[in-house]
Amino acid sequence: MSTVVETDVLIVGSGPAGASAALALSTYGVPNIVVTRYASLADTPRAHITNQRTMEVLRDLGVEQDVIAHATPQHLMGDTTFCTSLAGEELGRVRSWGNDPLVQAEHELASPTRMCDMPQHLMEPVLVNAAVARGTSLRFRTEYLSHTQDADGVTATVRDRLRGDTYEIRARYLIGADGGRSKVAEDAGLPMGGQMGVAGSINIVFDADLSRYTAHRPSTLYWVLAPGATVGGIGAGLVRCVRPWNQWLIVWGYDVEAGAPDLTTEYAESIVRQLIGDDEIPVTVRSSSAWTVNEMYAETYSAGRVFCAGDAVHRHPPSNGLGSNTSIQDSYNLAWKLKLVLDGVADPKLLETYTAERAPVGRQIVTRANQSIRETAPIFEALDGLSPQTPEQLWANIAARKDATDAAETQRTALREAIAFKVYEFNAHGVDLNQRYASDGIVPDGTPDPGFTRDPELHHQPSSRPGARLPHAWITSGTRTLSTLDTVGKGRFTLLTGIGGERWVRAAEAQAVEIATVVVGPGREYEDPYGDWARLREVSDSGALLVRPDGFVAFRHASAAEDAAALLTDALERILGRA
Ligand code: FDA
Repeated sequence: MSTVVETDVLIVGSGPAGASAALALSTYGVPNIVVTRYASLADTPRAHITNQRTMEVLRDLGVEQDVIAHATPQHLMGDTTFCTSLAGEELGRVRSWGNDPLVQAEHELASPTRMCDMPQHLMEPVLVNAAVARGTSLRFRTEYLSHTQDADGVTATVRDRLRGDTYEIRARYLIGADGGRSKVAEDAGLPMGGQMGVAGSINIVFDADLSRYTAHRPSTLYWVLAPGATVGGIGAGLVRCVRPWNQWLIVWGYDVEAGAPDLTTEYAESIVRQLIGDDEIPVTVRSSSAWTVNEMYAETYSAGRVFCAGDAVHRHPPSNGLGSNTSIQDSYNLAWKLKLVLDGVADPKLLETYTAERAPVGRQIVTRANQSIRETAPIFEALDGLSPQTPEQLWANIAARKDATDAAETQRTALREAIAFKVYEFNAHGVDLNQRYASDGIVPDGTPDPGFTRDPELHHQPSSRPGARLPHAWITSGTRTLSTLDTVGKGRFTLLTGIGGERWVRAAEAQAVEIATVVVGPGREYEDPYGDWARLREVSDSGALLVRPDGFVAFRHASAAEDAAALLTDALERILGRA
């Protein structure tokens, strides 16, 4: 062992969590190094659904347009189809991912961004390229081996897999973004709840022109209910679009007790053929790999100067498309806190809010994703297809739904309802956007928790109460139309007020920590021509919202205050852990 390399933040892993941590830190000017075990970024599509909250994060980090340029747009994602094979019978559809007209309106009202389908092998280069362009040092083929920490920092030992030697990297903080088998989380002793290896799954990546079976019902997901589809896996066979309509990924289950099958090309092709249902279509299998469905989450995301993010602390199946979304949002929550602590602006206590805010989200999404698998079973039950039976019997049950009998009508109703219930997987807008934080990084304003008036998993409910994400409203500045969310972020706090809020503005400008000020009202820098902001802000014109760099409201006051300076100073002392 020879050299010791030094940096402020060492990040282990270049997946969505590590790459976005690097991007945010470099954007904020924090020196960082990423080490990653392999010679390249993700070489298979993996995670893909990219929700509005993640797009807001990427918008703030300046890469939203790059992602849109590479992604499949929302309108091609939405006809989630249940069928016996792509060429076979269709059993029903769910308008998904904000493509139901009513849900679409909710998406448009909630955010300036749109969902998209951004496969992981395209997402990682966008994040990593921007991070490196802004200062991140990236070391491929470099494996994290172990770490020790003391009062001033962390010393990690890594192996250069090209040369074979090991060396040390000394950092003030270490981020373990090293995925579902995180050695950093293990070495840091982060306690995990739940279970690994709940079910077995296989991913098969292949090329085939399937436009004949898909272009008329454009979707990211085609679910195949066929014999064997309930063994392991994620609830049914899945044909997932990677690029419309010629690059694909199949997810198929296996019995985890029996172990993964031998993934020969012949085996992979046989699964592909079964799910397409048309042997005439030319198919090229690119790769196949086995993985397991996990149901695990950490209660604590950090130990001393070591912080974990992404799959390192929450492990779950792809249902609801929450994997990389939650990973990116973890890192976004952590990065600004590290910046302010490293700058000496905040006390290290601020970093304790990371677990307080993100661990409940991790637990919720692990539970939701696994629940979504279980909620596929009623579709099979409606076809009487769950109990062991012959393929002929399943096909007969599927055919029976076309009969003009009372029993068939009952079956049709059950099938329709079971498929419609899958909105909890494919349109869970509330799961994507309703995160509300309670921690020492949030100053309560004494108002009661408004809760949710509608199903909080399905519907987003904006609020400006401390702990909620700043509501989105379109406002204007001269000829420019922008979102309220565009006025916040960029690694700094923002104070929003209106006419009569001059004391708040002066108080913000007098703080040692950088606070951007936004005054919305007639004749001011920003105007609210539609009145949307006035309806959403939940404070009067002269009131104030103090928004953290991650877009969450940290403090609010209903109206003007004589002692605005003292109130704001006190709030910041608490938020920054200095009280
Ligand atoms: P991620 O696993 O992406 O990244 C971990 C990083 O750490 C990698 O760069 C790795 O090289 C690095 N690393 C690990 N150990 C290291 C060490 N000791 N030293 C240095 N570097 C190390 N999700 C989904 O929503 N839909 C899907 O279809 C799929 N499919 C899928 C397939 C496969 C094969 C996998 C592995 C995963 C999925 N996922 C998925 C899950 C999804 O990919 C996952 O939620 C996110 O990638 C999590 O992002 P992270 O950055 O946390 O970990």
